[in-house]
Amino acid sequence: MQSYEIIMKKRDGQELSAEEINFFIKGFTQGDIADYQASAMAMAVYFQGMNKRELADWTMAMIRSGDTIDLSEITGVTSDKHSTGGVGDKTTILLAPWIAATGVPFAKMSGRGLGHTGGTIDKLEAIPGFNPALSKEEVVRNVNEIGAAVACQTDNLVPADKKLYAIRDVTGTVESIPLIASSIMSKKIAAGTDTIVLDVETGTGAFMKTIEDAKKLAKAMVSIGTNLGRETIAVLTNMNQPLGRAVGNSIEVIEAIETLKGNGPEDVKEKAVALGSYIQVVTGKAKTASEGRQKMLDALKSGAALEKFKEMVAAQGGNPEVAGNYELLPKARYAMDITASESGYISGINGQEVGMAVKIIGAGREKKDDILDLSSGVYLEKKAGDYVDAGEKIAVLYGNDKEKMQEALNRIRSAYSYSPEKIEVLPMVHAVITKENL
Ligand code: URA
Repeated sequence: MQSYEIIMKKRDGQELSAEEINFFIKGFTQGDIADYQASAMAMAVYFQGMNKRELADWTMAMIRSGDTIDLSEITGVTSDKHSTGGVGDKTTILLAPWIAATGVPFAKMSGRGLGHTGGTIDKLEAIPGFNPALSKEEVVRNVNEIGAAVACQTDNLVPADKKLYAIRDVTGTVESIPLIASSIMSKKIAAGTDTIVLDVETGTGAFMKTIEDAKKLAKAMVSIGTNLGRETIAVLTNMNQPLGRAVGNSIEVIEAIETLKGNGPEDVKEKAVALGSYIQVVTGKAKTASEGRQKMLDALKSGAALEKFKEMVAAQGGNPEVAGNYELLPKARYAMDITASESGYISGINGQEVGMAVKIIGAGREKKDDILDLSSGVYLEKKAGDYVDAGEKIAVLYGNDKEKMQEALNRIRSAYSYSPEKIEVLPMVHAVITKENL
């Protein structure tokens, strides 16, 4: 088999066999196929796409490129959720214990933040003592004993994706739906979960800017999961502003805890309940999403989800007292008010801009090895749909460097857009993709 023949076949729109795909991904991972050939292949896939069979084979070949985690020692059907990435998205922090409180085992590999979106692992590390570097044995033990574990990704999970992503990033091929779908699903499946619920966000701050693209991505991912024997559901959610009011690390942990106490912002609660109700469905614990929803709401009302959060934090070496005493979390020295630049109804808040602004004050990373300032962040007091007068306080910025804070403040101020007319705030969920409606 010749790699350039495989590239030409895809370039000309022909279907690749499983053998050809395996040969190509294996050769590329081992370094026998050059980066420039992988670039050409990525571009061929970008233009020609892949059918469902090719997509499943491509994903399987990516999974085989490295380690896979075997979670079969966990009792029960395990669940995991993946979000395509949103600013202010602290869902995993509350969803992991909340799902465990309903009796469904939840084992999640999470990442660190890079660019304008934050990472769950960084946020959890704001909790004193919290250890995300769990071995597989520790994940299995914690999930069997308390029902949940959130750990950082191991280094050798899907090495083909790391190599290919680096190439896609500089060759204009990141935005290929089959390449995004196989990149995400290969990592989820390699991480060992039985079932997957995907949160596919659409909007200004999201990876997918239009509903059509988000639907195509969701369908591609559900098709991969189904073909590779994992029950998968994708929930399409709206994101024309950051999720909740807090963006940062410490500050997002506080918001997640407040939500578990029943005091959090409605959108944070709604996203967790929506995803959680479909987790009940994919794991077979509920027949319908509304039955799943009721289970989620019961676990919140009874306080079981909050108790489980404390157990999960303690099991990973963190101080569970944070749930009652936020002074234990890193705290910034300075606070600055941000005011509205004009009067009107807030029509949106550009998540990407807010994410970039908090990166300036150290809450996010520019480079992989940057050290974060876990105490800095922003609290958005006003959100889409609210009416404000020019000069009224819309947000508070927390940080430790006044000069950088001024730059971030200006950026957040201009991330807000206004309308003279009342605006309709879109519902959190706008579509659900299951294997039945592919
Ligand atoms: N996230 C991933 O993990 N992979 C992609 O290709 C895009 C987003």
